[in-house]
Amino acid sequence: AQFASAQPSLSGRHILVTAGPTHEAIDPVRYIANRSSGRQGYAIAAALAGLGARVTLISGPVTRPTPPGVERIDVESALDMAAAVEAALPADAAVMVAAVADWRVEAAGQKVKKGDGAPPALTLVENPDILATLGHSPRRPRLVIGFAAETQDVVAHATAKRTRKGADWIVANDVSADVFGADANAIHLITADGVESWERLPKSTVATRLAQRIANALQGAS
Ligand code: CTP
Ligand code: CA
Repeated sequence: AQFASAQPSLSGRHILVTAGPTHEAIDPVRYIANRSSGRQGYAIAAALAGLGARVTLISGPVTRPTPPGVERIDVESALDMAAAVEAALPADAAVMVAAVADWRVEAAGQKVKKGDGAPPALTLVENPDILATLGHSPRRPRLVIGFAAETQDVVAHATAKRTRKGADWIVANDVSADVFGADANAIHLITADGVESWERLPKSTVATRLAQRIANALQGAS
C-alpha cells in the first residue's frame, strides 16, 4: 500500500473563498462599510491556488491585486455576495473570510438631501447569513470554514458560531487587538475535536497553514 503524500495537493478541487468588507448603500452616493482589508482572505485564496485548487474568490470592495491563478468575482453588498456564493456552487470547500455587513440600509432611490429638518434616520434590515445558509444547505461543500471576529470571550463565542452556522471549522480572531489591515493574526482554530491556538503569525503564514490543513482534510476519508 502507498502512504499518503506529505504534501497533499488540491488539484481537481474547487474552493470558494469570500473576502473583504461589504458596502451597504444608503442612497446612490453613500454607503456603510467596515474595516476589513481583505488581506487574510486574499492570502488564503492565494495559498489554496498555490496547492493546485481551482479557487473562486468572491470579493467585497478592496484595492488589492487578484492572486495568480484565482478567479475573482467582485461584489458590493451582502446580498450580492450571497447570490455570488450560490452561483459559484458546487464546491469541495468554502472559506468564508469576508466581513459581511450584518445589516443593510433601507436605501433611498435618490440622493438624500440635507433639507431643513432633522438628520435622516437610517432603517437597518438584517442581512442573510451567508455562512449559515451554506452550512445548512443541501448543496453544502464537504468542508465549510467560517471566521469569527470577536472582541471578548473569543473562543466561547466562536465555538457557539461553529454549531449555529453548521460550519466544520471556525477560525477565531480577537479583533480588539490591531488586526484589520495588520500583517499578523493570532487565531484559534475550532473544530469538532476542540480548540487549537496558534501563535501570532503573519497572515500569509496563517493562510499557508490553513491551506495545508484543508488539503489534508479533503484528502481524508470523509
Ligand atoms: N457571515 C456571513 N454572512 C453574514 C454574517 C457573517 O457569511 N451575514 C460569516 C462571516 O464571513 C464569518 C462568520 O459568518 O465567516 C462569522 O462572522 P461574524 O461577524 O463573526 O459573526 P456573526 O454571526 O455576524 O455575529 P456577530 O457579528 O454578532 O458577532
Ligand atoms: Ca457579524
